[in-house]
Amino acid sequence: MEKINIAIDGPASSGKSTVAKILAKDYGFIYTDTGAMYRSVTYLAIKHGVAFSDAKSLVNLIHQYPITFKQTEEGQLVFIDGEDVSQAIRQPDVTNNVSEVSAHELVRKELVKQQQIIAENGGVVMDGRDIGTAVLPNAQVKIFLVASVLERAQRRYKENQTKGIQTDFETLKAEIEKRDYIDSHREVSPLKQAKDAVLIDTTGKSIEDVVATIKTVVKDKGYL
Ligand code: DC
Repeated sequence: MEKINIAIDGPASSGKSTVAKILAKDYGFIYTDTGAMYRSVTYLAIKHGVAFSDAKSLVNLIHQYPITFKQTEEGQLVFIDGEDVSQAIRQPDVTNNVSEVSAHELVRKELVKQQQIIAENGGVVMDGRDIGTAVLPNAQVKIFLVASVLERAQRRYKENQTKGIQTDFETLKAEIEKRDYIDSHREVSPLKQAKDAVLIDTTGKSIEDVVATIKTVVKDKGYL
């Protein structure tokens, strides 16, 4: 299989990671969840008592504690320095502070470098906010997923329920709106559709539908 890179960007809970994982599996590519990397730095800051505003110390944490991914039967696991943090990085204390951590230019520089190394040989499906614009501007296929705030809050609510995380729906919706705002208005690499990205609105669409639409985009561009 031709080893192209596929960049998938969009706001929180737009369905990025779900479809990116399926695409990676179907194409035999590596899936990279860049949001998990920003979440991991936030988790490290909480664990080591580093202020979310202290960019230099956050970068030191990245150097000190390597973030790695492991593909397993149950999906992708995230490790920091050998510790499985896959669950911990989805908890509200991380979710509510990750936008502040990911707004630092120094932090982004470090993680973007790592993301570019992961994708340097192709064969990667990478999801995030700035993959098509900043991390992989030469990705062969770029997708920008959007969905209504209401539907995204419903998705996150259900996801949390199945994971046993207690959340209030209205709070969750307000948090998504706040995170959208910060992610789209920050100075460095804000969430933005790349000029050459294909926009897909996933509101009311099934996962299968979205995956099929992306596969058609890939084919139409002459790949795979
Ligand atoms: O996709 P997610 O909800 O797990 O992402 C967590 C946060 O990380 C999100 O609020 C914005 C940030 N992020 C980013 O700034 N750039 C990326 N490439 C991925 C995520």
